[in-house]
This record gives sequence, structure tokens and C-alpha cells, in this order.
Amino acid sequence: MSTTTIPSFKLNTGADIPAIGLGTWQSKPGEVREAVKVALETGYRHLDCAWAYKNEAEVGQGIKDSGVPRSEIFITTKIFVSNYYPDRLEKSLDESLSLLGVDYVDLLLLHWPIALRPNAADDFIPLKPDGTRDTNLDLDINREVYPLLEAVYKKGKARAIGVSNWSVPKLEDLLTVCKVKPAVNQVELHPYLPQPKLVAFCQSNDILVQAYSPLGSSGSPVREDEEVVKIAKKHGVDAGTVLISFAVKRDIVVLPKSVTASRIKANLALVDLDAEDMKTLLGLSDVRGVTRYTKGAWGVKFGFEDGF
Ligand SMILES: NC(=O)c1ccc[n+]([C@@H]2O[C@H](COP(=O)([O-])OP(=O)(O)OC[C@H]3O[C@@H](n4cnc5c(N)ncnc54)[C@H](OP(=O)(O)O)[C@@H]3O)[C@@H](O)[C@H]2O)c1
Repeated sequence: MSTTTIPSFKLNTGADIPAIGLGTWQSKPGEVREAVKVALETGYRHLDCAWAYKNEAEVGQGIKDSGVPRSEIFITTKIFVSNYYPDRLEKSLDESLSLLGVDYVDLLLLHWPIALRPNAADDFIPLKPDGTRDTNLDLDINREVYPLLEAVYKKGKARAIGVSNWSVPKLEDLLTVCKVKPAVNQVELHPYLPQPKLVAFCQSNDILVQAYSPLGSSGSPVREDEEVVKIAKKHGVDAGTVLISFAVKRDIVVLPKSVTASRIKANLALVDLDAEDMKTLLGLSDVRGVTRYTKGAWGVKFGFEDGF
């Protein structure tokens, strides 16, 4: 038996955040407007967006089409790594706000703990002549970029701020220098990448964890895993419901992406996994191997438990 009442968690700002949000990465033009409308009509009140997804205008149209008041929706966007500069960060947020058709976001994240050097030819993913990403390793993200995020937070354009893809060492360092504690760390999480130490660190420091690629992203075997399917059959639910419920049971916000109406609806269901299910799912990466699906060709290590 599954339920479709969406629980919520609290941010360290005191704000409520729905435990399930619609992911919008790789949601193509011509698809995401309808996906957002369907999601909001179905009961979602949380959208995970990013400037880098290049689809925020359509997300904004979907919000309008749904007729759901802005005040009822929790909206996240992210500052991309080529916009980590004093003359670019707030502009990037303003562009996202304008595309989404809103005058504030509920949560603003730094997308990755690394910067790129924008140039005249490319200000999105600029490359060096050898074809690798033009990373700016001289920029100290926690000391030079995070304060820019704190400044837009103080202006009220973002009601909470946080980070994405920060490992424990990067968070430890950030906590020594930040003035506004990050409310969230958004990272890849599913049974093949459960990251128990990172989750425990965040939760003991009152930083809410958000799970991206909770279904293993596109084309991964996580949804078809024999043990996941067995647990799904035991409860009479879809494998997707097991993966989404696995995150929520760990007090983690979960961000499944879909542009398929039936899956958008199905992904709102939760099932109460028991201790045995959780033990199996938490132990799955020991058997199958720890696997990360969303890496990005950054050419550096970020300090995660799996060596990434
Ligand atoms: N901060 C970051 O760096 C970062 C990185 C990656 C992702 N994210 C966020 O997290 C969100 C989710 O991650 P993700 O997009 O990588 O992957 P995901 O949500 O794990 O998986 C999405 C894939 O699963 C399919 N799917 C969705 N529901 C399904 C269901 N019930 N049964 C079977 N297949 C289903 C989708 O297909 P259809 O769409 O065709 O239905 C799509 O191919 C992103 O959209 C984004 O908002 C953030």
C-alpha cells in the first residue's frame, strides 16, 4: 500500500520544504512546460531547477499554466560554475528569476564546488584549446563565491541558500568561514551511492540533504535491481516508489525527474519501508559496487567517500 500525502521537512531557516520535488534536468523544450503543469496539478509543490538546465522559461510557463499560486510552490534554482564572479552571480539569479517569472526563489544553490572561466566565445561550459573544461582553480569557492550567495540572500532574492555536490571536507571548510550556514546540500543519492558518512555529517550539522538522480538517472540499472524489485513486489508498489521512499525514510528530500505524466503522478507515492527493506537497500552498494552516474568532466577530485 502506498500513500500520496507529501510530507515536508524543515530547513535551518525555519521554512518548510516538501519532501518530494520535480527534477527538471534534461527535461527537453517542448516537454518540460507540460511536465511542470501536470506535476503542480497532481499535487507537487516543489520544483528543482537550474540556470544550467536551459529550460527555466518553460518551467515558468508551466507554473503559470497550472494556476497554482507562486506562494504555494517551493522553487530552487542554482548558480552555475561559470557565473561564480561578482559581476555575474547576481545577474545569473536575476535571469533565472525573470525566466521563471518569479521575484524570489525559495532556495538558491551553488551548483558545483569548482569554477569555470567564461570567455567571449562561451560563457556556459568554456573549454581550453585541448578540449578540457577551463576550470579556475585559483578561485576559493567557500571564501570568494559563497559570500556572493550570502549577499543575494540578504537582499531577499533567495529565501534560503545552500550548496550542491559538496563533500564532507568541503562542508567542514565552509562551516568554518560562512556567515549564513547552508540550508541544503544537494548530492547524488540512491542505493548504489548511499553516502552514509556525508548524510550523517549534514544531518548532525542541521544541513538538509537533497537526493538527486534518486532513480539512478537515465538508463541506469538501479530501478531494475533484483532486490529493489523484490521489495517493490512485497509492498505491491513500483520500483520507483521504493527508491523515492528510501530517500524520504532517511529524512532526505528527493528530486525524481520525469516528463511522462503517468510517472510524474506515480513518483508522488510513498511506501513505509520496514527496517529489513532499509538494511537491504543501504547494503546494496556493498554487493553491487558503489556507482555514481552524474560526474561531469571536471578533471579534479571533490573529496567524496567513493573517491570522486
Ligand atoms: N545538483 C546537481 O548537480 C544535479 C545533478 C543531477 C540531477 N539533479 C536534479 O535531480 C533531478 C533528478 O535526477 P536525474 O534527472 O539525474 O534522474 P532521476 O530522477 O534519477 O531519473 C530520471 C529518469 O528516470 C525516468 N523515470 C522517472 N520516473 C520513472 C518511473 N516511475 N519509472 C521508470 N522510469 C522513470 C525518467 O524518464 P522520463 O522523464 O522519460 O519519464 C528519466 O529518464 C534532476 O532532474 C535535477 O533536477 C541535480
